[in-house]
Amino acid sequence: MNDPYIQNLFAQRIGGAAYGKGTEIYKFEKIKRAKKAALAANPGAELIDMGVGEPDEMAFPESIEALRQASLNPENRGYADNGNDAFKQAAARWLKNVCGVTGIEADKHIVHSIGSKAALSILPACFINPGDVALMTTPGYPVFGTHAKYFGGEVYNIPLLEKNDFLPDLSSIPADKLNRAKTLVINYPNNPTGASATEAFFGEVVAFAKKHNLIVIHDAAYAALVFEGRPLSFLKTPGAMDVGIELHSMSKTFNMTGWRLGFVAGNELIVKAYADVKDNTDSGQFLAIQEACAVSLAHPEITQQIAAKYSRRMDGLVRILNQHGLHAKKPRGSFFLYVKAPKAATRNGVRTAFEKAEHFSQWMITENLISTVPWDDAGAYVRFSVTFIAKGEAAEQRVLGEIDKRLASSKFEF
Ligand SMILES: Cc1ncc(COP(=O)(O)O)c(C=O)c1O
Repeated sequence: MNDPYIQNLFAQRIGGAAYGKGTEIYKFEKIKRAKKAALAANPGAELIDMGVGEPDEMAFPESIEALRQASLNPENRGYADNGNDAFKQAAARWLKNVCGVTGIEADKHIVHSIGSKAALSILPACFINPGDVALMTTPGYPVFGTHAKYFGGEVYNIPLLEKNDFLPDLSSIPADKLNRAKTLVINYPNNPTGASATEAFFGEVVAFAKKHNLIVIHDAAYAALVFEGRPLSFLKTPGAMDVGIELHSMSKTFNMTGWRLGFVAGNELIVKAYADVKDNTDSGQFLAIQEACAVSLAHPEITQQIAAKYSRRMDGLVRILNQHGLHAKKPRGSFFLYVKAPKAATRNGVRTAFEKAEHFSQWMITENLISTVPWDDAGAYVRFSVTFIAKGEAAEQRVLGEIDKRLASSKFEF
């Protein structure tokens, strides 16, 4: 590539003059390469991909038809800016009917997002000055922290440990970080641990935020995907609206990842600041998509059907993994099953030791053609997503049966 000067102009936040020169291979690239190599070594074999973090199916027909109709309306053709009333009203009704959150006024407490990822990338601009600390949890979805660092902020990661049910131990945050902290980002049901929060934990978060003057951002991308009972909204916690916001997303809730729509709800002042920065960032999601998503939000039974499918798949997967000596526990929601990585596996008389979850995950691809995502951030675990491609229950059972067969010849050590 002919480059007389561009390389020297990159900002420090993306590596400065060293941008693109690193030789480190990132986790998802390693997975991709291992999958390619495993398929090349086993031509025609089926790779079971349990590493994918998005639904395996399309949006439901009522949402697609609503999009078709709404896109024919000339009034929907232009910039949406901070959104129209139909989606905000639908979101407020959904929060009330599905999560039991009252007191939400659509025009004050809700603004749409072009997906929660976009909201998480915009929000640091509202709060983070150089030197401010953003409290996050690890392992986790890093987008807020990445942008907080772009603004000169510092990220303090609170580990999510099995002994604490994968909830952050807020009392473990060092005083010098807490003194400079402005924001606390939490995410339940959690990616990747699959853990759910409790009302008591959310109560603790509100009290902690008030004591230490923190803004709470609850990323609720998986909130509605629960296997029993009602989704647990942070906003239902007494006092939550004084300290924070909640990010909801159409992506996983309605099989709409590519449609790019979500909403930010909660504290009026925080929502206002988000809307102001958003207004300077994007011009809003296509109004026809917002209208179609308003239709989806009026059909919570869609989410229930999706969650029932994941629950059924989880039951099968948990049973099979436990039968083969792995330690799997069904989560209460999400589509993630987080399983401790073994220290070693013996297959066909060959023993392989794993120093890290990453090694176990690579072995699972190479030896079993089963792809998972490893996490070595707070203990060694792999994440199985039950979003593997299988149309209908019979196809699902076939895939699960295949996993069963492939793991049958392995013995695991912990
Ligand atoms: C925890 C978490 N937050 C946010 C997102 C992004 O969601 P969206 O599709 O709404 O941008 C994801 C997507 O994988 C996620 O896992």
